[in-house]
Amino acid sequence: MKRDNAIFDIIEREHQRQLKGIELIASENFVSDQVMQAMGSCLTNKYAEGYPGKRYYGGCEVVDESENLAIERLKKIFDAEWVNVQPHSGAQANMAVFMACLKPGDKFMGLNLSQGGHLSHGSPVNFSGIMFQALDYGVRQDNGYIDYDQMEEVARRERPRLLIGGASAYSREWDYARMRRLADEIGAIFMVDMAHPAGLIAAGELDNPLRYAHIVTSTTHKTLRGPRGGIILMGKDFDNPWGKTTPKGEIRKMSALLDSAVFPGVQGGPLEHVIAAKAVAFGEALDPSFKDYQQQVRRNARAMAEAFVAKGYNVVSGGTDNHCMLIDLRTKYPELTGKVAEKALVQADITVNKNMVPFDSRSPFQTSGIRVGTPAITTRGVKEDMMGEIVELIDRVLSEPENTSVITAVREKVNQTMKQFPIFAY
Ligand SMILES: Cc1ncc(COP(=O)(O)O)c(C=O)c1O
Repeated sequence: MKRDNAIFDIIEREHQRQLKGIELIASENFVSDQVMQAMGSCLTNKYAEGYPGKRYYGGCEVVDESENLAIERLKKIFDAEWVNVQPHSGAQANMAVFMACLKPGDKFMGLNLSQGGHLSHGSPVNFSGIMFQALDYGVRQDNGYIDYDQMEEVARRERPRLLIGGASAYSREWDYARMRRLADEIGAIFMVDMAHPAGLIAAGELDNPLRYAHIVTSTTHKTLRGPRGGIILMGKDFDNPWGKTTPKGEIRKMSALLDSAVFPGVQGGPLEHVIAAKAVAFGEALDPSFKDYQQQVRRNARAMAEAFVAKGYNVVSGGTDNHCMLIDLRTKYPELTGKVAEKALVQADITVNKNMVPFDSRSPFQTSGIRVGTPAITTRGVKEDMMGEIVELIDRVLSEPENTSVITAVREKVNQTMKQFPIFAY
């Protein structure tokens, strides 16, 4: 077969884009060469519907070994009793939990989307909001922290069957213990989607939700620095008999319901090449150097939030406990939308995403904020002493987002700076 230059040229251009820029998208990271090698391996050729030792295809003995390694390593990282490493993505992990725990039309409750929640926690255009009845809680207007009083008030009144913690844009630690008490009081299942801070939790830098939640879901590609994918985990509740009965009238364990919800409930054959890459990433997360990395992610995020505040920006909640922060642009530049800010910064090779901020006056297409995170630049070796300089470059662009000579000057500085921080070995 002739080399597919159309695609490989595109891949090379993306490689150059990643090398040259300052990557501040809070949900992105740069995986290791070993993770990429596993993903690009012959394991992509194998069909393996089912689970290790119980497959619907022959020839699965070898991939059983890598899936089992992924399972064992993941359990060790989070002190889990049961895990499923097959979800193709975070949204599919969440879908499997809904399948296992709810009937269509049941009520559930998650963080409001415009205040940091994820699409799969109840957006009207997502399966969660289409097939189930979504209720929400928000953050407090005075300090940007989760409003647990309001959550309790709505939950006691509405009695959702599933209570979801976790977010896509929330920079503070969660009170999981309070949420579990609430779930127990109203008889709900408590799920935490730790997709964003999973790497920090793995390194012991933030509280481990497995100690509180019945079920925990995550992506593997954000702070956890693995391939794109999802996972589901359970701690001490894994063995609970659940009130949902099989067609034969048996009461099944929650973990068994979740396994069948992933396959055959919402997926077919697992991506064994991605599962092998997850196993590699989990091995990396168990290495002591991963803790140093996560501590640096947090130090960088704290330094960056302080630099934004020093420049007169409104950082929602005043700072960050984790890897990310939301900048409400309205305080410093009332006319500037997140959409224009994102576009101008991308032209300067600084990648961020526009984001709704709590109590936003603009639509999700315009927004009044940007979301910024440090996992990717930290992987490249950038330290906290550079955060002031990065914020200075961002501010130069945002002060004159239409000025092409400013954008060009900032881009040249960004490209020059990032030459010192290689990513890929090849
Ligand atoms: C909290 C949370 N859950 C789930 C997801 C969905 O993950 P995926 O894009 O892999 O479906 C995201 C993605 O940003 C997320 O932030």
